[in-house]
Amino acid sequence: MKLADRMSRLGTETAFEILAKAKQLEAKGKNVIHLEIGEPDFITPRNIIDAGIKALNEGYTHYNPSAGVREFREVIAKEISKTRKINVNPDQVVVTPGGKPIIFFSIFALINSGDEVIYPNPGYPIYESVIDFIGGKAVPIQLREENDFRLDTDELKKLVTDKTRMIIINSPQNPTGGILTKDDLRVIAEIALSRDIFVLADEIYSRIIYDGDHHSISSFPGMQERTIILDGMSKTYAMTGWRLGYGVMREDLAVKIARLQTNSNSCTATFTQRAGIEALTGPQEDVDRMVAEFKKRRDVIVEGLNHIPRISCKTPKGAFYVFPNVKEIGWEVRKLSDFLLNEGGVAVLFGTSFGKYGEGYIRISYANSVENIKKGLSRIEKALQNIK
Ligand SMILES: Cc1ncc(COP(=O)(O)O)c(C=O)c1O
Repeated sequence: MKLADRMSRLGTETAFEILAKAKQLEAKGKNVIHLEIGEPDFITPRNIIDAGIKALNEGYTHYNPSAGVREFREVIAKEISKTRKINVNPDQVVVTPGGKPIIFFSIFALINSGDEVIYPNPGYPIYESVIDFIGGKAVPIQLREENDFRLDTDELKKLVTDKTRMIIINSPQNPTGGILTKDDLRVIAEIALSRDIFVLADEIYSRIIYDGDHHSISSFPGMQERTIILDGMSKTYAMTGWRLGYGVMREDLAVKIARLQTNSNSCTATFTQRAGIEALTGPQEDVDRMVAEFKKRRDVIVEGLNHIPRISCKTPKGAFYVFPNVKEIGWEVRKLSDFLLNEGGVAVLFGTSFGKYGEGYIRISYANSVENIKKGLSRIEKALQNIK
């Protein structure tokens, strides 16, 4: 088969590959603790499920406009106006099947071949994949452990050129759990404003924060018209499988992003958007409960990892990942994660699946029970005893 040339530039998300490998081992009877996949283990809150079922029963089973159901867009506009302290109208909202299409659509809509896009590395792998795929130039900015995995704004200034068209930021961050401070965002905003650069602000973990508050770059004066906020229901409301997310951006761009949706998905499922209305307007106690539980698990996993010889782990401030340093073990992390899966029975992701600067680290998702986390930790410790 002869594929189009561009397909050779398309990357992937290793989490799904490791999950498949782990499932194969399980099918052969091996017991595996899953600490690889980035999704809450909680069931979607009952009121949201009921709203989805009700919507199905009421016949919300047909197409809806490409940009999304008007009432849902109104609710999102209200929510973003309140939480980001900006003025958003529903025409600035595009609803998508998960937050992920906003990454694809934004880069597709704004990046010409040869345009430069600065993105976090280690970072969510889809950024680099899509930039390459579109023919843009992917310019990584390294997130360093000694800087709490925040990008270094001085370094960012040096990476910006006349060709820089977009900066992607992600806070709280996958895979490190790092958070950008308000001062970081202020400097990034200054750069974007002075150099006419768009910012894709991936805020999918904005509600999963343990220390401090979430700040959005869109709140800085002049930034709303050059920021695309990506957010959604997947992580906050444990709705990964519902595929429900959105982008918030200037109206003229929203029209184009909706057109990309017309050309790809047509629209996001109608009944899930009804459930989305309930998610945003209904009781929020379940979110608080889930975040409190994640915090408990974070403390267990950070402490446990720091007790394992040759591993050290910073305490992340948000999301549900830790990114421990495993450099002392002296193995390439891809080989190490294979070993932990095959010999140890614990699935984790190797740091380089988030870009080249992930070497020396593994990513562990603690979206799993305390019991399984403890079991996973003791399996890791035991397996490492076999590496001299
Ligand atoms: C940083 C980041 N952005 C976007 C997404 C995509 O989320 P969704 O499942 O809503 O498409 C993820 C999912 O893992 C993520 O980690």
